[in-house]
Amino acid sequence: MSEAEKPLRYAADWIARKKQSRRIVVVTAYDAAFARLVARSRVDAILVGDSLSMVVQGHRSTIPVTLDEMIYHAQMVRRGAPDAFVIGDLSFGSFQKNMDQAIESAIRMVKEGGVNAVKMEGAEAHVLDAIRHLTAAGVPVMGHTGLKPQTVMTTGGYRVQGRSETEKKLEDEARALCQAGCFAMIFELVVSAVATRLSKDLPVPVIGIGSGAGTDGQVLVLHDLLGIDDSFQARHVKRYVDLAGLVTGALNEFGDEVRRGDFPGDEHSFS
Ligand code: KIV
Repeated sequence: MSEAEKPLRYAADWIARKKQSRRIVVVTAYDAAFARLVARSRVDAILVGDSLSMVVQGHRSTIPVTLDEMIYHAQMVRRGAPDAFVIGDLSFGSFQKNMDQAIESAIRMVKEGGVNAVKMEGAEAHVLDAIRHLTAAGVPVMGHTGLKPQTVMTTGGYRVQGRSETEKKLEDEARALCQAGCFAMIFELVVSAVATRLSKDLPVPVIGIGSGAGTDGQVLVLHDLLGIDDSFQARHVKRYVDLAGLVTGALNEFGDEVRRGDFPGDEHSFS
């Protein structure tokens, strides 16, 4: 296997990819069935994101999902993708209290969830302390700045970040996350020009979502790119397949065949 084809195994591989100017592709997954499909694709890493609160659990935000639930889903993903690089998101309430709580939650996610790395939103002082402590202890941490969905209650909704009034704060946070030891970070809904400038300048890969094409990689929510929920489409999402339409079509066909008596046929029956 050539150097270029090597899968991401360790945090250091992410930095090496950036040095080689090779973009990193990440998608979310929340269960074994989808993780298995992602693992046989050319996607580089799986994020068990707290978006599962909305996408899988049906909540209106990422606030309700608990750490226990995140770990439960990380375990499913690990079973479906035993060799994948899996990142486990720390949910709201599992790291905001203080550094000790953040470290305990991260270690649980690694030990019980079986993930290769954890992700935390934000760059408050205790989060940076926790990142320093965890990386020194051998737990790779991915940062997350720009839009931070766990703080929308105070920051006023799902707004694009990096415009004049928020650019300095975003840059300070990104640099602090690098200094604390993050091996990579998510930029969510950051103005493209700012995301491109910082991606060129920062020493670790910036994985963008809604942040333009100039970052070191992209992440999308799996259910969004597969078109599983067709009730809403955000500007930054591209639907690569209309799975909602395909599933509805298949279910209707099944229903019609049952009603007509066409299913099961002899080939699906036992004599
Ligand atoms: O939870 C999630 O899916 C995320 C991505 C949007 C980056 O954090």
